[in-house]
Amino acid sequence: MTGFSAEWLTLREPHDLRARNSTVIEAVATFLELCSSVQIVDLACGTGSTLRALNPFLPMRQNWKLVDNDLSLLARATASPRDNNATLSAVPLDLNRDLEAMLDGVVDLVATSALLDLVSETWLDRLVVEMVTRAIPLYAALSYDGRIALTPHDPLDVAIIAAVNAHQRTDKGFGPALGPAAAALAIARFEALGYSVVRGTSDWVIGPDAPAMQSELLAGWANAAREVDALPRAEISAWLRRRRDLVAAGRSVLRVGHADFFATPSATR
Ligand SMILES: C[S@@+](CC[C@H](N)C(=O)[O-])C[C@H]1O[C@@H](n2cnc3c(N)ncnc32)[C@H](O)[C@@H]1O
Repeated sequence: MTGFSAEWLTLREPHDLRARNSTVIEAVATFLELCSSVQIVDLACGTGSTLRALNPFLPMRQNWKLVDNDLSLLARATASPRDNNATLSAVPLDLNRDLEAMLDGVVDLVATSALLDLVSETWLDRLVVEMVTRAIPLYAALSYDGRIALTPHDPLDVAIIAAVNAHQRTDKGFGPALGPAAAALAIARFEALGYSVVRGTSDWVIGPDAPAMQSELLAGWANAAREVDALPRAEISAWLRRRRDLVAAGRSVLRVGHADFFATPSATR
């Protein structure tokens, strides 16, 4: 599975849904509650995970623009089950090139998930400036924040996690990625420009009942460690074997730190 494949996004979605911070979702719902209809733009929608997560909390009519540069993911997103108060349109677009076009016109909310840790500081600043100029609120969920805890402990865990976090900062198509720094930096930028922010953690806690998710994460982390060349390959492979044995024995729990936030322009409603 690749980082953006439909298979991976489907595997992670139930964990994302459980992890999304309910205080942050409530803040979004409360902010929009007086609207009879809302225009929502979902940046890098993938298969539509954010739509499926937010739709049940929004009783008003919703028009969702689902934006991604992957046509097959967009096709899945527009086929999403949802309450019949939501209309969906797919927008195939490269957010690195054409971000600004997605924010023009009436937009009541920009939503995104698992995107900000992929983008560069330059792209984040572009997003913040464009949002603030138009006084649009942002719901940004599931930005990886650098915290990984593996139980039981293995002596190589710390070195592997350091390698994963180094890999997180490599270019994912938007320039050098912010990785674990993304959510904190985005919040600081919005607050500096007068936005109010509701924030909370949205950690995955993946237990023995989810061996496929655990195996996929561990394989991804081993690959990341190989790609940044931080450790001898034989040590990485031995670590992966030990961790897979723990998964097979039903003894492994993985915690992966994420942050959610909702940033709103002050005094617009
Ligand atoms: C980690 S996935 C998150 C998908 C979805 N938001 C979710 O939470 O399941 C990142 C998404 O960013 C999209 N993406 C990556 N680079 C992009 C770009 N330059 N323009 C538009 N979408 C992009 C990918 O196709 C993928 O759907």
